[in-house]
Amino acid sequence: MLKNRNLIAPNDFTNQELNEILLLAREIVNRPDFFCKKAEGKILASLFYEPSTRTKFSFDTAMLRLGGQVIGFSDPLTSSTAKGETVADSAKTISKYADIIVVRHPKEGTALLMSKYAECPVINAGDGGHQHPTQTLTDLLTIASNKSSLCNLKIGVCGDLKFGRTIHSLVTCLSGFEGNSFVFISPEELRMPSYIKEKVAEKGKSFIETNDLEAAIGDLDILYMSRVQRERFVSEEEYLRLKDYFILTADKMALARKDMIVMHPLPRVNEIATEVDADPRAKYFDQVKFGMYVRMALIMKLLGLDESTPEEDK
Ligand code: CP
Repeated sequence: MLKNRNLIAPNDFTNQELNEILLLAREIVNRPDFFCKKAEGKILASLFYEPSTRTKFSFDTAMLRLGGQVIGFSDPLTSSTAKGETVADSAKTISKYADIIVVRHPKEGTALLMSKYAECPVINAGDGGHQHPTQTLTDLLTIASNKSSLCNLKIGVCGDLKFGRTIHSLVTCLSGFEGNSFVFISPEELRMPSYIKEKVAEKGKSFIETNDLEAAIGDLDILYMSRVQRERFVSEEEYLRLKDYFILTADKMALARKDMIVMHPLPRVNEIATEVDADPRAKYFDQVKFGMYVRMALIMKLLGLDESTPEEDK
């Protein structure tokens, strides 16, 4: 049962629960009109203490497309945070008004903290360089729609593996599915954190680390590119030195398999040349739309909304 649960990290849900969300999301993709009144009377609080385009707009749109309503802010300085209110008090207060809270915050652990004080489900929409579980749901729906299964895949993750929260969540999650293996492609300075590598090893999955994208690309089922996370660097000089370390071009795509897919959580800066966008293997703009549908499914599950469709009602 997912009703009234929080989603702070992807491992909060079992593989079966993740599959249930994907199943509902695929039903919504196929018949969105059937779901347009499911959340009537419900309110989602959208609390963004850090910039966002996709996550904020897709959550807001998801709730509106379910017939619910949205309150919140994208600039915390318009709230009592500016007067020194704690996250705990904000959570207690906002959950008196809203049925579900979505929070993005630059500080790791804030969504977990909010979930301890809120009286309604809390969804982590990204906490610092830690986790971004709803991007993982988006990614899983994209993979499930392009590959026959979430198992037996060789996944290359490339770029800023140190600070890339979408990558931490995705690798943690996919290491729980049978037969997957990983290639961690990054400069030495932006290697995958040890705690993520330990989780992969605990699940009995193998990984290799390399800084050679050209050598690795030909062997992959999925190449997951990521932006170098400027906002998490202490030194601007270090960021400038590393920001263009990998740029995926049409020439590099020519080394990849015909059935490899390229994913990216977006926003993109310079790490995928725009010439790659026209390649049918480029799925990053499909991911954007899947994000809205999977968030509709997640909201429905956590609010325990009626999932029946008109045919089933008869
Ligand atoms: N993928 C993602 O989290 O994008 P935004 O930062 O635009 O929400």
